[in-house]
Amino acid sequence: MTNQGKHVALVGFMGAGKTTLAQEVARRLNRMLMEVDRIVETTTRQSIPELFAVGESTFREAEERVVRGVLANPRPVVADLGGGAVTTPHVRELLYHHAITVWLDEDADTCWERVRASDRPLAQDEAEFRRLFEERRPLYAQVADFVVHDADDAVLAAAGVHVERGALRRLGSLVPGDAKIALVSDPNVAGIHGMDAQLALGPRLAQVHELPPGEEAKTLAALDRLWQDLRLDRRGTIVALGGGCTTDAAGFAAATYLRGVPWVPVPTSLVAQVDAAIGGKTAIDIPQGKNLVGAFHWPVRTVIDAALLETLPEPQRREGMAEVVKTGLLAGEPLWELPDDELVRRCAAFKAALCLRDPHDNAERKMLNLGHTFAHALEAAAAYDGITHGHAVALGLLAALRLSGRDVGQVEEILRPKPVRVDRERAWAALQRDKKVVGGELRLVLLGDDGPRWDVAVPHEDVRRELDALIA
Ligand SMILES: NC(=O)c1ccc[n+]([C@@H]2O[C@H](COP(=O)([O-])OP(=O)(O)OC[C@H]3O[C@@H](n4cnc5c(N)ncnc54)[C@H](O)[C@@H]3O)[C@@H](O)[C@H]2O)c1
Ligand SMILES: [Zn+2]
Repeated sequence: MTNQGKHVALVGFMGAGKTTLAQEVARRLNRMLMEVDRIVETTTRQSIPELFAVGESTFREAEERVVRGVLANPRPVVADLGGGAVTTPHVRELLYHHAITVWLDEDADTCWERVRASDRPLAQDEAEFRRLFEERRPLYAQVADFVVHDADDAVLAAAGVHVERGALRRLGSLVPGDAKIALVSDPNVAGIHGMDAQLALGPRLAQVHELPPGEEAKTLAALDRLWQDLRLDRRGTIVALGGGCTTDAAGFAAATYLRGVPWVPVPTSLVAQVDAAIGGKTAIDIPQGKNLVGAFHWPVRTVIDAALLETLPEPQRREGMAEVVKTGLLAGEPLWELPDDELVRRCAAFKAALCLRDPHDNAERKMLNLGHTFAHALEAAAAYDGITHGHAVALGLLAALRLSGRDVGQVEEILRPKPVRVDRERAWAALQRDKKVVGGELRLVLLGDDGPRWDVAVPHEDVRRELDALIA
């Protein structure tokens, strides 16, 4: 099962804050929250202190039954496990097979402060509490697929996304399984980070491939060469190291080679870290248009190392900032003001949650198209030459904000988009082709007072006026 269909199980010591975190994660993923302790109390009709009074083993047996039931749920849930659940070997085994296990790691002092006044059976004596804390740590470490500190971390874990500065250096331990690995990269990135990746992958690395740089990677010719060069069995894993072009193309190779092999994007550009490598969409281009052939193929892991951005050329960084600003506007927070590591983590988490809620782009995932109807029209009018996607998105955001009745000052200040010189009629024709027209109105993503809305009907003349304002 791929990550997006798996349960998320929260583990951690009493007082770590699991209950609050579990509620927040369930809300953000729009999943059912199952609190194991509460279910134990309801099904046994006894409180936890009462069950412990009979004997801890009585409680652990009931707990194991409940965990088994919760993880048998056909729809993915967020499960909040009691602090001691992992002491039961069967529970650890269930977690291993049926959940992404997420450890909320909090220090002993904080945990003790939160529970010292409670009636929890195992929190009556501080020395005993601290002894237990030390005893349990190795068990949490053993079962944890991810260690988290907040809801963004947990959402990323649910999507299989590992965010850590320096992660490239320990890539070998972050690619799940023990099968052979084919590393796919582009020549620029391979020249800068390829050797670190190869060393980190160690003896599992079986082959190294290069795709052409940029959009050339997303062509049938490049894919054909890669398909023919790949030598993997069904368990073999493709690791895609590079920008969005590399991850889109290598991801599509992973979706199609042997009818699908596991893959792990390691995005190296800002565009790829906050956007392209999140959400499981893979694609190549055909002469009729960009991204017209592709597949949904969720990675088994995504590894994001913001340190890799330090070698990214400034124009490429600006490309990414347009998507960062878009994400911040959608999230209603100035995410663009954050330092790189936080910026990437928060933006990736926002997109990850959205894609987990709507993996096949039928509903709210559409909000990611904020500004993009205009952007695509400008790009098409320029025949994808002379305007970058980021520049077009920056302009598109201006139009979307104006139609939303919002101030454009921030976007102008951060992205400084200049109007482009393209043919107005061509841009207008492209925009109408992009969006099917419903009764003289176009459907766009706009920002409402209570958050983003998609499929909003906007009169033709308003859209045309805003499009014209973007053209020099
Ligand atoms: N699948 C999705 O959901 C999705 C979302 C957004 C964009 N995309 C796709 O992503 C592509 C654009 O991605 P991109 O902007 O990353 O382009 P890209 O992959 O071409 O990378 C941009 C350039 O930066 C270089 N580069 C990348 N990382 C570097 C680093 N760390 N140091 C130095 N140089 C580096 C690359 O070699 C390349 O020359 C488009 O094809 C777009 O369709 C896909
Ligand atoms: Zn975009």
